[in-house]
Amino acid sequence: MAENILEINNLTVTYGQFKIITEVSFKVKPKEIVCIAGESGCGKSTLIKAVLGLKQLGAQIEEGSVILDGRDITRLGVEERRQILGTEIGYVPQNTRGSFNNIRSYEVQYKETMLAHGLPFVKADAIDVFKKLNFPDADTILEYQPWEMSGGMNQRMAIGLAVLQKPKLMLADEATSVLDVTSQKEVIEELSKLRDELGWSILFITHNLGVASHIADKLGVMYAGRMVEYGAIRKVLDHPIHPYTRALLAAIPGKDRKLPQGLEGRPPLDGAEWTGCNFVPRCRFACEACKTKKYQLIEVEPDHFASCSEGME
Ligand SMILES: Nc1ncnc2c1ncn2[C@@H]1O[C@H](COP(=O)(O)OP(=O)(O)OP(=O)(O)O)[C@@H](O)[C@H]1O
Ligand code: SF4
Ligand SMILES: [Mg+2]
Repeated sequence: MAENILEINNLTVTYGQFKIITEVSFKVKPKEIVCIAGESGCGKSTLIKAVLGLKQLGAQIEEGSVILDGRDITRLGVEERRQILGTEIGYVPQNTRGSFNNIRSYEVQYKETMLAHGLPFVKADAIDVFKKLNFPDADTILEYQPWEMSGGMNQRMAIGLAVLQKPKLMLADEATSVLDVTSQKEVIEELSKLRDELGWSILFITHNLGVASHIADKLGVMYAGRMVEYGAIRKVLDHPIHPYTRALLAAIPGKDRKLPQGLEGRPPLDGAEWTGCNFVPRCRFACEACKTKKYQLIEVEPDHFASCSEGME
């Protein structure tokens, strides 16, 4: 196994001519859970789509590379990509409503997906996964059809399917946000425990810093298409450096509310296109020089990077 399960190097991603994320770099080590947080529209799902590399998702890598367990997967062909999805990379999308056919049993659909990835389907293993994830009706749930289930339960079934495939890397895009608070906590705790058992890594996208604080080893904060802070979770949450991260955390009593409370304005939609710092319109430390300041993530202390430390004491 390589030193890093995932390496994102200097990634710039577009939809058609629109640049959505730019110069994003970070690494996920074996067994590590990395959370990426940021306001709606900052490019979190786009980042996941770029790693998945499925043409139909529309996200196009313009520059940079994606390295999975030492292998460059930036420009794989359709067949090679199909082989790694499901076996090496598991994916739970932001909304799983379209992931299953509504009128066929989960069992049939689990079996088909496993076989499509060249994996055996063993019903007892699936039930074992459901039990580990504390699903209600673990013994019988495969017999149901999605239309009979709530959105939350359907989401859990998508998580169960990804877990069953035992990928090296799980990409979870707001995978638990449609669950009620209790179920969300349960699933997150179990995913975290399974990480130790299965030895996998998880890239977990969330709006919720409370969730990140609970599950993550590392936290990345994205703003308008750029990673503005990245590091060990306790360092980022306890000693935030970037003015954006500091504003977010200062405005979230108990650090468990959704982003962003109390921060005026909205991120620019074309933030990834800006030459200078794209936080200028909302930053209380902004000055003329910020408008042309070149973006760069700097290691401020071991395991803690930020693109600006203005206003730090
Ligand atoms: N298929 C697409 N074609 C064109 N633009 C898109 C497409 N998908 C997303 N976008 C745009 O890209 C930007 C980033 O979207 P993305 O879904 O990555 O954000 P996000 O951080 O995941 O937001 P959220 O928290 O709401 O899920 C948004 O401005 C969005 O409108
Ligand atoms: S570069 Fe300027 S505007 Fe951007 S975060 Fe730093 S101080 Fe604020
Ligand atoms: Mg999203």
